[in-house]
Amino acid sequence: MKTIKGIKRLKTALKDARAQGKSVGFVPTMGYLHEGHLSLVKASLKKTDCTVVSVFVNPTQFGPKEDFKKYPRDLERDSQLLENLGVDFLFCPDPVEMYPADFKTYVEVEELQDVWEGRSRPGHFRGVSTVVLKLFNIVQPDVAFFGQKDAQQAILLKKMVDDLNLSVRIEVLPTVREEDGLALSSRNVYLTPEQRKAATCLSRSLDEATQMIRSGERRSALIMDQMREVIEGEDLAKLDYIAVVDMDSLEAVNEIKRGVLIALAVFFGNIRLIDNIMISEEE
Ligand code: PAF
Repeated sequence: MKTIKGIKRLKTALKDARAQGKSVGFVPTMGYLHEGHLSLVKASLKKTDCTVVSVFVNPTQFGPKEDFKKYPRDLERDSQLLENLGVDFLFCPDPVEMYPADFKTYVEVEELQDVWEGRSRPGHFRGVSTVVLKLFNIVQPDVAFFGQKDAQQAILLKKMVDDLNLSVRIEVLPTVREEDGLALSSRNVYLTPEQRKAATCLSRSLDEATQMIRSGERRSALIMDQMREVIEGEDLAKLDYIAVVDMDSLEAVNEIKRGVLIALAVFFGNIRLIDNIMISEEE
């Protein structure tokens, strides 16, 4: 595995790979890798000839009161994990090269960026779409891999790719979970043992919603009430939002008629966790 910091150096290395007829797979990450990230890396290794993983804690997607400074970082461990899997390139750009002092251009995916996660984290998706477009321009991948856990991010990035006629294909892979259902997240390390125990309420509330839908319930309000009850059953949990929404427009649906996304965000102290499920038309 080659570790590259410079944008120009990575571009040159990938030009060589492409000249040899290799397809390029890309997994953008903010590091502190867990099995969720590694499942994306494994998919890229399987489906493409040359896999690039970026590790970059992107400052523009954190709000002023968010955890940019204390976001967990361990590049040495990340690098070892990626090397063991057989990744071709690890790209860890310098923040100053990514965002020089005179940086002025941002990407906004209107409407999709302002709801749910966007409402709770103003400016977050502007930072995500900007850095992802920059990374796509640098790597020029054939396929890029994202996790279903960040469902709104994946929907918004697909829209950006469509709207801006990018040639990358986006693949979204299932959320990887702990045995008790908690979705893997780099932020799980912040949880105290008590909060960690309570944090299963996110997946429990989603299981409850799935059961209700399978039993024929179609009214979103009743499903959300039941989910809320599960979250409120945990003293350490504070609900941010529950959303039952259309998978493309992210608009709330009152009655489930076709595939929907059910998503939620819950605080444990200052730690905010998200989770979601997709309900297909057949369920
Ligand atoms: O999902 C993430 O880890 C980040 O939002 C991403 C896509 C790497 C952009 O910084």
